[in-house]
Amino acid sequence: MKKTLVVANWKMNPTTLRVAKTIFSDTKKSLSKLNGVEVVICPPSVYLSELKRLSSGNKISFGAQNCFNQEKGPWTGEISPVMLMTSGAKFIILGHSENRRGGDNDEIVNQKIKLALKSGLDVILCVGEKERDEDGHYFRFLKKQILDDLEGIGKNYLKNILIAYEPLWAIGVGAEKVITDKQLQEVTIFIKKVLVDKYNVKDFKDVRILYGGSVSYKIIDDLAETDVDGFLVGRDSLSQEKFSKLLKVIGSK
Ligand code: PGA
Repeated sequence: MKKTLVVANWKMNPTTLRVAKTIFSDTKKSLSKLNGVEVVICPPSVYLSELKRLSSGNKISFGAQNCFNQEKGPWTGEISPVMLMTSGAKFIILGHSENRRGGDNDEIVNQKIKLALKSGLDVILCVGEKERDEDGHYFRFLKKQILDDLEGIGKNYLKNILIAYEPLWAIGVGAEKVITDKQLQEVTIFIKKVLVDKYNVKDFKDVRILYGGSVSYKIIDDLAETDVDGFLVGRDSLSQEKFSKLLKVIGSK
């Protein structure tokens, strides 16, 4: 049975380890009776090793939210992918729009992806347009962003890469609109095709796409019927009630 991957992006929350442990154990409880769902929790990296220590079973794994583009050295305050992996991360989110806004251009994202893959992490690469135009220029933008970010990354790594489609207009409290299942299906197929063409793979099943941007139990029903392989959840992954409802709907598909 195909499992749906749900990535919980906690961002810079919660403010204490104690609350982080509570959210983690709530998530574990919500997942215990569900089949067909796997969760990747991406907490602030300082909580990784403590949470990893509390985990058991194979339904939850951990991810980091970003890393630096160097392996080691005199880089005050920075963290390398290997450090994140040895702290318990299996995945890493890279290219999130909040980090791109902070200066991560495609070249830097590409360097980070290469280093993260070399370090043994699976990469969740976030891509997405700022706005949608009627002429469909956003398709061109998306294709360029994906190809630039994956420049020089070989086919052998394709199994370690997930693309998270996160249109900026649908993310966070300031989201302008909610994505429709039709829009999501169209972009999912488009991104899969970009990857299938780049890597010359035979099957759409070999490329995995996630969707992120205001994902909640209220809109998940239709979105889960599309060809996406999972979801990246921000705000609602921090609320026990909302996240367990969301996982339940996904688990019932
Ligand atoms: P959101 O965040 O679910 O709160 O919109 C998603 C994201 O930014 O990854």
